[in-house]
Amino acid sequence: MVLYPDQSHLQRLRTIYQPSLPPILTDLSSLQAFPVENQEVPLEDEIHKLFPLTVAQPNLIFKRVSSERSDPLKIGVVFSGGQAPGGHNVIAGLLDAMLKLNRDSRLIGFLDGPNGLTKNNYTELTSEMIAPYRNQGGFDLIGSGRSKIETAEQFEALGKNVRALKLDGLVIIGGDDSNTNAAFLAEYFKRKGLDISIIGVPKTIDGDLKNRFIETSFGYDTACKIYSEIIGNLAKDALSARKYYFFVKLMGRSASHVTLECAVKTQINLALIGEEVSALKLTLPRLIDQIADMICLRAARGKNHGVILIPEGIIEFIEEFKYMIQELNRLLSHSGNESEADRISKIDLIIQALTTNSATCFSSLPEEFQKQLLIDRDPHGNIQVSKIETERLFICLVEKELVKRKNQGNYIGAFNPQPLFCGYEGRSGLPSNFDCHYCYSLGHVAALLINSRVSGYMACIQNLGKPVSKWEINGISLTKMLHLEDRKGILAAVIRKGPVDLEGTLFNYYKEKRSAWLLEDHYCCPGPIQYEGDLELVDAPPLSLTLPSNFSAN
Ligand code: FBP
Repeated sequence: MVLYPDQSHLQRLRTIYQPSLPPILTDLSSLQAFPVENQEVPLEDEIHKLFPLTVAQPNLIFKRVSSERSDPLKIGVVFSGGQAPGGHNVIAGLLDAMLKLNRDSRLIGFLDGPNGLTKNNYTELTSEMIAPYRNQGGFDLIGSGRSKIETAEQFEALGKNVRALKLDGLVIIGGDDSNTNAAFLAEYFKRKGLDISIIGVPKTIDGDLKNRFIETSFGYDTACKIYSEIIGNLAKDALSARKYYFFVKLMGRSASHVTLECAVKTQINLALIGEEVSALKLTLPRLIDQIADMICLRAARGKNHGVILIPEGIIEFIEEFKYMIQELNRLLSHSGNESEADRISKIDLIIQALTTNSATCFSSLPEEFQKQLLIDRDPHGNIQVSKIETERLFICLVEKELVKRKNQGNYIGAFNPQPLFCGYEGRSGLPSNFDCHYCYSLGHVAALLINSRVSGYMACIQNLGKPVSKWEINGISLTKMLHLEDRKGILAAVIRKGPVDLEGTLFNYYKEKRSAWLLEDHYCCPGPIQYEGDLELVDAPPLSLTLPSNFSAN
């Protein structure tokens, strides 16, 4: 084993771990992509207008053809957006597959996200360079970024750079926004007559890059396992000291998949699921009541402890906040980087500019929270919910409600809340075996799609809830996932996010169990991610892919 400096014993052991591949990927030489019929998806007219050359592309499956020697491939790769465990394995899988197809293939890594593409900032990646990054977390091999490629100048610069490098393909490893970029690039290059394959890879710990074709994004499994370890430990602490209420905010800005998965894994007392909050049109006071009711009921049973999970994106699901945030997004769409002082001075102006209901909602919030709501949007127009301390807002409002109830003689307990944010620590951890296998395979599929000279596709693997030996590989047309969405006050074509399915197995399971978990303590400690031992444990896929068959609650 090579001793890489600064790596822990476990990290070193992981560099030599060999992820599994589905059987079809063990011999790449004769695999070619073929169209799948009858997978039409109705799309809005505007999408047809924006993507005339790629909108009708069929999805792809791979079939064996009489063996042909592949030409050497030259491929570029870029990370885009937030880190997700397993990203380095996509690159390792991509390079290994390219070299298996032809030993003279070359891989170019663009540095620091999409900016690397427009600024021509790159490095050539070799097997030696990748070796210490195999099965490791983070995106530090080439870095990442959130810049958006949108202006004509950026498209031109990027086109010039990939032409100069004579790339056969470009692999964009990203979430919904980055894969939207990939769809626009594929259309652009076709229009320009440039023969380069643009391929996306589904990444995001949020788990919301999912639809009828994409079962889950990579990184979600590891992040949920890391958070669940922490939450399980907190629950044990709550149960032991019997004096704290832990309010845990979890990443997942537009969907509550992470919160739901962690809630079922750890069986904590209460999890707010944004999609349900939205479907039931629950207001913030209603949610505060719900939490306070639980605390009062538990106090009556002598319990002054508990664990509550809150998805970071909850505010965008709460009825009155949804509209207020849309209005704020429009009002803030023209502001540049602002200082704290600018934001404070803006609060009064903002209140005047909002409609009456939104102004009432905004004014009712503590100033700290108002300032957080005015933080700059990300380059894609998203509110940066990771920077909004929702867990503290909930604590503050629940505390007020409990004081009121105590004064009325309706609450007899003691309330000692502790806020916690489970966010960045889950995004760069050592990937679970599931993410190692998944990402390594995705890298192979991306190489095969480029070798088949197709463009505007996402590398995709299906049957992920089953053992790797049953996985199936596909290429999914990026345009089939597009729809129109309000961004910075304008309707834009973007990849549709997949919210928690309120009719789905995992949510129904939670619904069935939650009233018992609310009052009784059924906390479950999943413990740290395991890499050795019982395969059912070490290779376990996320619950969202396996329930009910493989799941055994206590
Ligand atoms: P991606 O959608 O790019 O994968 O990122 C998701 C996420 O991890 C969210 O859960 C979180 O709100 C956000 O990134 C934080 O972004 P940043 O790294 O810019 O602070």
